[in-house]
Amino acid sequence: MKWMCSLSLAVSLALQPALADVKFGPHPLTPEARDAYVTDLLQQMTLDEKIGQLRLISVGPDNPKEAIRDMIHKGQVGAIFNTVTRQDIRAMQDQVMSLSRLKIPLFFAFDVIHGQRTIFPIPLALASSWDESAIKTVGRISAYEAADDGLNMTWAPMVDVSREPRWGRVSEGFGEDTYLTASMGRWMVESMQGDSAADRYSVMTSVKHFAAYGAVEGGKEYNSVDMSPQRLAQDYLPPYKAALDAGSGGVMVALNSLNGVPASADSWLLKTLLRDDWKFKGITISDHGAIKELIKHGVAKDPQDAVRIALQSGVNMSMSDEYYSQYLPDLVKRGVVSRADLDDAVRHVLNVKYDMGLFNDPYSHLGAKESDPADTNAESRLHRLEARDVARKSMVLLKNRQQTLPLKKSGTIAVIGPLADSQRDIMGSWSAAGRAQQAVTLLQGLKNATAGKATLLYAKGANVTDHKGIQDFLNLYEQAVKVDSRTPQQMIDEAVATAKQADVIVAAVGEAQGMAHEASSRSDITVPPSQQALLAALKATGKPLVIVLMNGRPLALVKEDQQADALLETWFSGTEGGNAIADVLFGDYNPSGKLPMSFPREVGQIPVYYNHLPTGRPYNPEKPNKYTSHYFDTANGPLYPFGYGLSYTSFKVSPVTLSAKTLTGNGKLEASVTVTNTGDREGATVVQMYLNDPVATLSRPVQELKGFQRIMLKKGESQTVRFPIDRAALTFWNARMQQVVEPGEFNVMIGLDAVRTEQATFTYR
Ligand code: NOJ
Repeated sequence: MKWMCSLSLAVSLALQPALADVKFGPHPLTPEARDAYVTDLLQQMTLDEKIGQLRLISVGPDNPKEAIRDMIHKGQVGAIFNTVTRQDIRAMQDQVMSLSRLKIPLFFAFDVIHGQRTIFPIPLALASSWDESAIKTVGRISAYEAADDGLNMTWAPMVDVSREPRWGRVSEGFGEDTYLTASMGRWMVESMQGDSAADRYSVMTSVKHFAAYGAVEGGKEYNSVDMSPQRLAQDYLPPYKAALDAGSGGVMVALNSLNGVPASADSWLLKTLLRDDWKFKGITISDHGAIKELIKHGVAKDPQDAVRIALQSGVNMSMSDEYYSQYLPDLVKRGVVSRADLDDAVRHVLNVKYDMGLFNDPYSHLGAKESDPADTNAESRLHRLEARDVARKSMVLLKNRQQTLPLKKSGTIAVIGPLADSQRDIMGSWSAAGRAQQAVTLLQGLKNATAGKATLLYAKGANVTDHKGIQDFLNLYEQAVKVDSRTPQQMIDEAVATAKQADVIVAAVGEAQGMAHEASSRSDITVPPSQQALLAALKATGKPLVIVLMNGRPLALVKEDQQADALLETWFSGTEGGNAIADVLFGDYNPSGKLPMSFPREVGQIPVYYNHLPTGRPYNPEKPNKYTSHYFDTANGPLYPFGYGLSYTSFKVSPVTLSAKTLTGNGKLEASVTVTNTGDREGATVVQMYLNDPVATLSRPVQELKGFQRIMLKKGESQTVRFPIDRAALTFWNARMQQVVEPGEFNVMIGLDAVRTEQATFTYR
């Protein structure tokens, strides 16, 4: 009963506000102490209490607060998600302490994906920064604000590699590349969990969605995935592994099936790979309702079957799914599910609670009651400076004809477009507990930057979309998109009249945030027709046209690329988005972002990703040949390649120098280039290193990112950038699923995007 004594002491102290600073304990946060503690606790638990620990519940119409109070009383709930204020969280933890028999603390989770109260750019934008310190700032502040709201778990990072711009959830991930995604995921975990998930201002992460959700067929949401074991191991699994190696305490199981097996029924994935091979010790959590869905997937015949399969396959906690509580008791009593399997799942839940420090202090992430914020969205709780800095680092300059940008803070600027003054859209999807009313729109940002210096004119110009069905889809749960009562022509006329009075047009177009979200796959990834009509009319004025894109996926932008004098990809840039865009447009910040996904010319080219395999008949645009691999009705290759992004200055990359011509065994070799800022202002860029294995027993990708460095150079300055290359960078999964390096020649390519690179060759022996 050792833990009970210290816990009741902790509780009695924690419930006395004056003593809330007391450090409860004294359980050391070591695996050995945890095992002993959890083993002891498990022995005291009834069957129902054990099953209760596996349930993750969200307060809502199905589970009102009173019902949850009752569940807490009976020990029927293990954790809560979607409750985001300290008052509400404290109330539930108080109920655990006062009503439940064993007083096992709840943990509290939320989708903190790109910020909690302060909203940072969407993850795809964060990936465009290629910047470790920016990502870690986002991770630290998100965790701080989440923990300051009493949360101790986040459903992040999402590291689903995706080559599918039709899939709405590419907005939530870090793009098409394995190495970049793995780096981002690792940095997120490190910065959100900090030194320990038990620290007051850390939260535990739950990497998702395991596995390969980003490869859903046709980019259609919740669809199935079918891929070779080699591709899975080589391209899709490493980011999850990187997040786990960084210590992520949780894994969220994907909704999709992989090679016919739904992830929630995949014991190879959740046990053999995750537990046996990768030695994962934390919890696995089902995605929303996933256990029930095993029936619709066609692998379980009824609810009992679904529960048995999920638990035996390694799904520990069940999210918003009453099946575990309804069917597990009987299955265990009848011996269909063994007590050992049940205990194993419960042990993982208790382990993470221990790691969160909840058995030292159930209120570890709540602080003193008197310090609860009166206004959870108080301005003082936001981190605007950091959000602005990260947002401007995430923007990608796609085109800048005759140095249209930066703009001058003088004259008259026409700010036009349905996204120019939309607070809701600039926040992006999954904007956690952030409030749109606190977001700075592009119009507001430009006003802030030009106050007293330039004249700003504004016209909405178009609805995001005039398609009634899509408007209804976007407004299904909230009035997310306001539809103007004027006709499209009236809006365009007003915009054109406004533009004619200006020296330059800044047009903000793209997607509503709800178009790039969960359950928002698109079959057409162009700028919606209402906005295309607006752009055509603006172009016809003959005024310089700066297109500011807001969107959550690569779009097909051939027309906009032709129309624009300058084109800036700003993604959904968050609470400080408008100020950050203004910084870039006026040159107060020199853009440095690089695309984390290739931008196709048109949807029919998808998938178009940079690290594809060679074919026997490669297409050469210089010498076109009918019987080669290409589309005959479009230009081939992406419009903007992976890694691409311009600056207001220019950079030159020298030929590659190798420290040796041969790399042997476990040795190291260094490839370097000298990068010179040849323009007339300071700027940052991202130097990227790709490798290629031209002859192997399996076709290997034409190039694969294996290193990158973001550097800042003053005007005229040069820097030598060095990339170490070792055996690990050359490995691949062969036909027999062995991870090998095959001796021979390798090509190293270094450049400022995936296409324009300098190349050298070395030998591995
Ligand atoms: C379903 C989504 O797939 C998942 O990513 C999210 O974390 C949960 N819902 C909880 O909101």
